[in-house]
This record gives sequence, C-alpha cells and structure tokens, in this order.
Amino acid sequence: MSDKKTSREELFQAPKGMRDIMGDDYYSYQGFFEKAQEIAEYYGFKPIQTPILEQEEIFTKGVGGGTDIVDKEMYSVKTKGGDRLVMRPEGTASVMRAYIEHGMQNKPQPVKLYYSGPLFRHDKPQKGRYREFYTFGIEVIGSPKSIMDAVVIHMGVLMLKEAGIENISLKINSIGDAESRKDYLKELVNYYKKHLGKMNVTDRQRLKDNPLRILDSKDPNLFQINADAPQSVSFLNSTSKKHFKEVMEHLNEIGVDYELDHTLVRGLDYYTHTVFEFFTTESSQPEDKVEPGAEVSLTKRLALGGGGRYDYLSKAMGYKKEIPGVGFGFGVDRIVEASKNIPKPRVKKKSKVYFIQLGTEAKMKSLKVIEVLRQNKIPVRQSLSKDSLGSQLAIAEKSGIPHTLIFGQKEALENSIIVRDMASRSQTTVDIDKLAKYLKSL
Ligand code: HAM
Repeated sequence: MSDKKTSREELFQAPKGMRDIMGDDYYSYQGFFEKAQEIAEYYGFKPIQTPILEQEEIFTKGVGGGTDIVDKEMYSVKTKGGDRLVMRPEGTASVMRAYIEHGMQNKPQPVKLYYSGPLFRHDKPQKGRYREFYTFGIEVIGSPKSIMDAVVIHMGVLMLKEAGIENISLKINSIGDAESRKDYLKELVNYYKKHLGKMNVTDRQRLKDNPLRILDSKDPNLFQINADAPQSVSFLNSTSKKHFKEVMEHLNEIGVDYELDHTLVRGLDYYTHTVFEFFTTESSQPEDKVEPGAEVSLTKRLALGGGGRYDYLSKAMGYKKEIPGVGFGFGVDRIVEASKNIPKPRVKKKSKVYFIQLGTEAKMKSLKVIEVLRQNKIPVRQSLSKDSLGSQLAIAEKSGIPHTLIFGQKEALENSIIVRDMASRSQTTVDIDKLAKYLKSL
C-alpha cells in the first residue's frame, strides 16, 4: 500500500457535529455573549458557571425520561471511580442543582442567574443542529410571580434585537400547573387514540411515555391532527388561567409582541405554566420538523431559544420542597447564523496605526514602541516577522489603516518615529515620548 498521499479522511477531524470556532465567527459568538451579559447584568442577574459534567440523575430526574434529550441524546461518561456522569445537555437542571447545593434559598429571593457555554446532545447533525452547541441562558429561581415570566421573555427579545436579529417571532403557550396538566393529558391521550392508525412508531411510543411530545412531532401526517388537537389553555384551572393572563398583560404593557401557539409544549418534562420559543421570520433560516417539500409555517423553523416556568423541577430532582423558577436558553450558534448585524466584542478594536520596522536595531526596539502604544490604548497592527519595506507597506496599504509608523535604523538611534498619513502621503517625525499624544491628536 502506498503511503505517499494522505487523504482527507485519514487526517484527524473534529468529532461529527462538533466544530472549531475561529476568526470572525469566534468574534461573533463573543460579541453576542457580551451583549447578552450586559443586558443580564443591567437587570440584576449574576453569572454562574456550572461544570460540563454532572451526575446523570440530575437530567434523568430533572429533564425526565421520555424526552429526546434523556432517552437518546446524552453523552455519558463512566469515570475511573465508577460514577456515571453526563456532559450537560442543557443548563437549567444544573443551575437548580447549584441553587440547592449552595443553599441559595437562604438568600433574598428570587435569585437571578445567567450562564453561557457549550451543551452536548447526540442529535442528528445538520445546519443549525450540532452535537456541541453554545448556549446563553438566564434563570430566575425562587419566585412564582407572573411578572418574572414577563421580565425573562422581555429580556430574551431585547437580547435578540440587540444582537441584530430582525423580525423576531415569539410564540407562547401555557401548559398550566399539575392539576390542569393532568386533565389535559387525559383528554389528549383519548384524542390521539382515535388517530393511532396515522401515527408512526415514535409517536405511538410517545403516547405511552410523554403524550405532550406528539404535539412536537416532525411527522407531516400529524400536522393537521396536531392543529386540531385539544388545547392546553382550555384545561387551565383558575390559578393557571390567572397566571397566564397576567403574563400576557405584562407583555402587552411592555410592548412585547407574541403569538399564542397551542401546539407549543417544549421538549422537556419540567415545564409548568408559561412556555415560549423565539424564532426569526427570516426565510434564510433553516427548517425544522418539516419533511422536504412539506408546507412550511413559521412555527416549523428552527427556534433561536426557548424556555418557560419550571415550578416542579426541584421536586423532580428529589428536593423536598417546590422551588418555582422561570428562564430560557438560547441556541447561540443559530443566533450567530441568523443575525445580520452581530455586535463586535470589546477586544476587537479597529487598528489606528500600522507599524513598520526596518533593520535589526529597529526590530529590536519595536516591542518597546508597541508597548507604549498599548499602554495608551492605541490599537496597532504590525508584521514583525517581515523585513522589507515593500512587503510591510503593501500590507499597510491593503489594510486601509489611515496612518503608518515607520521605524528605521536612524529613528531607532534617535528615539523617534515617522508618522505617515496614508491618504496624503505626508510624513512627520515625532519623538517616541510624544508619539501617543501626537497620535491621539490626529
Ligand atoms: P431547549 O429548547 O432544549 O431548552 O434548548 C434551548 C435552545 O438551544 C433551543 O431553542 C435551540 O436554539 C438550541 N439548541 C437545542 N439543540 C440544539 C442543537 N443540537 N444544535 C444547536 N442548537 C440547539 C433548554 O435547554 C432549556 N434549558 C431552556 C430553559 C432555560 N428553560 C428554562 N430555563
């Protein structure tokens, strides 16, 4: 066998569904995180970073069996000590674990937290759907009040708007409290039993494990059946009805546009009362839940984020008390892909000057000059690995940076530097001591 040529397949590659994020993409992610963090801080949220690995039961109990995340998508790790850990597939159960573990119930309530980082789901990779993807999420834990649902939703809309997402579409629904949900589920199961003949194996299984998930089905045969299915809002008891009405009133008051979507139930078990998802109506968005050729409605496009209230999560995780909470998680990869105008991160500064060095003496002293500029917050670009004036000038011309600094043998000896205006080609020699001040005056 010849080993002259190594084909692409033989080279190492990132795991399927996972990517290197670099260059402008990296800055886009960072720009989004900074914007979202700025808004979260403004609203009094504090940061938390939970471990990437958590005990498996946090998710099997918290998110729930019968959900895709738990049944099919978790990356499990058996440690050398024999523990079963999973790479976090979502953030809410981890944050609730941290809240309980650190006794945050003894702090003034509610506790408002934000987080970001990678999540892992063994999903079928395609555009907008990765096995490692990035989230930014917020959680308000310790308040059952409807205003908190509205604040969280409002903040989600703000973050998307300020991240350059045009035409945000917000879908909301209420699945009520446990009592309302029980009545609703009974009715839903009866309804789907009548349509068993049209249901595929997965949805039949859902009828047993988690009937709400059928409303989320990707099967085009079920679109109409789902559209005609009993609606959770018709089964809300008076407490649940009141809560949902208040959320909508708050949203109306703040001026957040939303659309009621009766088929919106969300794929995780822990939700109660309000559930919501953010979409963009831009047609460039990839499509979800739709077979090729099937008619595409806005709801069927990929969600940029989703969330809701989760008043029973703490009990599902084995804690003795109910701890009310509400929050959302964004899919940052999708936001970066969909945004037309993602904010620039703070580190990404436009260079004010291009620095050229000529000769050994000048090269040696270059770092000192660059350091003077850095300390004076003057962003500079340079190519210290290059030697010739021609190659450096060519880069300077191409970069469009308005001024070039030329540091040659003579200037290095005299502690001065030439400042060249690239447009007029005029040049001034300035003492290094006075350089920062001079550049700021330009
Ligand atoms: P989720 O809807 O499962 O909710 O995920 C949140 C967002 O993550 C989705 O709306 C989507 O944008 C993004 N996402 C999900 N899977 C993928 C994937 N494979 N590739 C790229 N992006 C993806 C939660 O995780 C809840 N913890 C949200 C929450 C917070 N609820 C209350 N608080």
